[in-house]
Amino acid sequence: MEIVGRVADVEKLVREARADGRTVGLVATMGCLHEGHLTLLRTARAAHGLVVASIFVNPLQFGPGEDYAVYPRDLDRDAGLAAGAGCDVLFAPPVAEMYPQGLDSMLTYVTVRDITDRLCGASRPGHFRGMATVVAKLFNIVAPDVAYFGQKDAQQVVVVRRMAADLNMNVRIVAVPTVREADGLALSSRNMYLNPAERQAALVLSRALGLAAARLKAGRRDAAAIRKAMGDLVVGEPLAACEYVAVCDPVTLRELDRVEGPALVALAVRIGKTRLIDNLLWEG
Ligand code: PAJ
Repeated sequence: MEIVGRVADVEKLVREARADGRTVGLVATMGCLHEGHLTLLRTARAAHGLVVASIFVNPLQFGPGEDYAVYPRDLDRDAGLAAGAGCDVLFAPPVAEMYPQGLDSMLTYVTVRDITDRLCGASRPGHFRGMATVVAKLFNIVAPDVAYFGQKDAQQVVVVRRMAADLNMNVRIVAVPTVREADGLALSSRNMYLNPAERQAALVLSRALGLAAARLKAGRRDAAAIRKAMGDLVVGEPLAACEYVAVCDPVTLRELDRVEGPALVALAVRIGKTRLIDNLLWEG
């Protein structure tokens, strides 16, 4: 595996692989790699001659009170894990390589309207603009055939797909199912902020989704009743504060009245200072 920090070096490695007739898979990350990220890498490895992973804690997608400064960074550890999962090129640029003019002098952003105001976008203004902008830059730098994203961040997948379609980006977006701990907690780099009591309380997210799935399987299709039952469950957990519960259309992210077809059931919960998200995609 090659570790590179310069845009020109990734471009060169991708060019050489393409000249050999290899296809290119991209896994974009912010590092602090866990089994979720590694599953994306293994999925890409099975499909492509060249697997590129990026590790970049993107300042543009963090809000003022968020955890940009303290987000865990350990390139040596991540490099070992990425190599073990089949990564060929690890692109870990410094901030100045991605934003050479400086963040305050940026003139160009990618703004996906409407769907970025909903769910997580409501409490994280600017987050999806920062995310879409860096993902667009990574797509331009790496020019992957396929980019792999985790279903764990369901709204991110919806926004990236819409951006790629609207801007005719020549990349296929593949969503990989959420990887969970044995007890149901979705893997997240932010789980490491949880103390033992909070770690236990965090199970309220997957339990709420389990409750929604049970109702839907039983044919109970009233979306407001599902939101209410999930919200009540979260309120019953003393260490949890519910940010939102959504039962929405999986493409427009508009709230549904009744679940008649596919639906995205999603929630964001604060456990102490840590904000966690989880979701399930109901196929209908
Ligand atoms: P990050 O949070 O590091 O996640 C990188 C990728 O791993 C995302 O596609 C995310 O959905 C996926 N992932 C995280 N936890 C997962 C899990 N439990 N199961 C399956 N996949 C999981 O998401 C970002 O970084 C950034 O927003 C990024 C796309 C890199 C742009 O900066």
